Amino acid sequence: MFRIVNKKKLNDTVTMMDILAPLVAKKAEAGQFIILRVDEEGERIPLTVAGYDRTAGTVQIIFQIVGGTTMLLDKKEAGEFIEDFVGPLGVPTKTEGRKKVCVVGGGVGCAIALPVAQKLHEAGCKVHSVIGFRNKDLVLLEEEFKACSDKFTLVTDDGSYGRQGVVTLPLKEEIERGERFDEIIAIGPLVMMKYVVATAKPYGIPVTVSMNPIMIDGTGMCGGCRLTLVKEDGTRSVKFACVDGPDFNGYEVDFDEAMLRGGAYETFEAGERERVCNLFAKESR
Ligand code: FES
Repeated sequence: MFRIVNKKKLNDTVTMMDILAPLVAKKAEAGQFIILRVDEEGERIPLTVAGYDRTAGTVQIIFQIVGGTTMLLDKKEAGEFIEDFVGPLGVPTKTEGRKKVCVVGGGVGCAIALPVAQKLHEAGCKVHSVIGFRNKDLVLLEEEFKACSDKFTLVTDDGSYGRQGVVTLPLKEEIERGERFDEIIAIGPLVMMKYVVATAKPYGIPVTVSMNPIMIDGTGMCGGCRLTLVKEDGTRSVKFACVDGPDFNGYEVDFDEAMLRGGAYETFEAGERERVCNLFAKESR
């Protein structure tokens, strides 16, 4: 059993918890994930490590309430216990040797992007963060991103907070202004990552994307996180986000196929996917 030592609501649908799990905390790195079960009868769900405190032995998770298990988890309070908490799993995000990186986060994907930005910052890398949300009510982790960023931009689709627009807008402006990023690391909805890649491509900037949004059970068995990689020479290969990732070279990911297959697992309400796709397409013209 694993004790919840801290719980905080970040907005109406997103909750943060610190879980006492010293062995996981000892080894966890940015980009990795854990699998938990709320109770003995519960399903396993993968959640990305949003932070860790090796001294306190805690691992931070941030989750969106999107179904039965996350609803059940959200009912737990600090001091209560969850049944299983296994990890760290997956390959950590590569941060070594980077001098200047743009970290792009969208929605609850910012919870995964934050520890990456923090790790880069701690290693002395210059970090530009661009984070985007649908509206003001959904904004997460603003102060935390500011604290680890040399430059910080927040956008909302409707302009209710920060700058109006999608993340690719300031990203493109920064690149066109002459910012020389060693890499762009993008974590958020598939459509956002697809357009971040499209924005960076004319400038040849490497893009790493996290395919975390298509993971279901995180065990390599359900097949839900299968994705196709297409190399420059057209060679295709099949990978699994939970086994081979979650990070991949953004230029190789077949996002269109992933969106068709992953549509059921992303947390868009009816009609929302189309609206977001149109927004990004418009900004990228
Ligand atoms: Fe099920 Fe990867 S999440 S196979």
